[in-house]
Amino acid sequence: IHNLGEGNSLLNQFVAELRDVDIQKDAMRFRRNIERIGEILSYELSKTLDYQQKTITTPLGTKEMSMPNNDLVLCSILRAGFPLHQGILNYFDMAENGFISAFRHHPNDGDEFEVVVEYFATPSLKDKTLILIDPMLATGRTMENVLKCLEKYGIPKQIHLVSVIGSKEGIAHVEEVFPNNTHLWISAVDEALNSRGYILPGLGDAGDLCYG
Ligand code: PRP
Repeated sequence: IHNLGEGNSLLNQFVAELRDVDIQKDAMRFRRNIERIGEILSYELSKTLDYQQKTITTPLGTKEMSMPNNDLVLCSILRAGFPLHQGILNYFDMAENGFISAFRHHPNDGDEFEVVVEYFATPSLKDKTLILIDPMLATGRTMENVLKCLEKYGIPKQIHLVSVIGSKEGIAHVEEVFPNNTHLWISAVDEALNSRGYILPGLGDAGDLCYG
């Protein structure tokens, strides 16, 4: 787990604005802050990818440079994954892309819920580097269910989970169910979950704050 919110950085200003009840009313700023966090996490993640030496020709000569050399697939969980996806795609602009829908179904209108995955469109994941994107990692059950559905698209070489905010419990769950070659990139980790599985203090419902 790479918790990039530890220590001082500009990243924490963007996370603070997402949490702030007054600032988060500005949906455009909320979405843009998630996107900016996606850009920062992408840059940090990029340091762990595979690289290859390439000769670049400039107008005045040539230069050997180390360039990322990976088959990346960005897969986002709707709805709230959308702005985070855009931030990551801004940096990994050559990546292939997949989209997944997942929502919490409360069968008896109580606190109990099951995660329903309905829509799934992705290119093959076989031997690719999968970047799985969801800004909220609360119980971790969405990530777990999405992982199960991904299996029929081929086994990725490596998995990177990218999230904005997670709970300790959700992170522990993901560590348990995902394979060993998984990295988690996250900008904040909170202590608790409430009985409905919302992160405390968290930021509220990211999907609603982005899109109403
Ligand atoms: C939220 C969030 C994650 C999920 C995390 O989605 O965007 O997908 O819950 O919870 P978990 O770790 O406990 O599974 P939500 O169901 O609110 O959908 P939305 O993004 O469409 O609003």
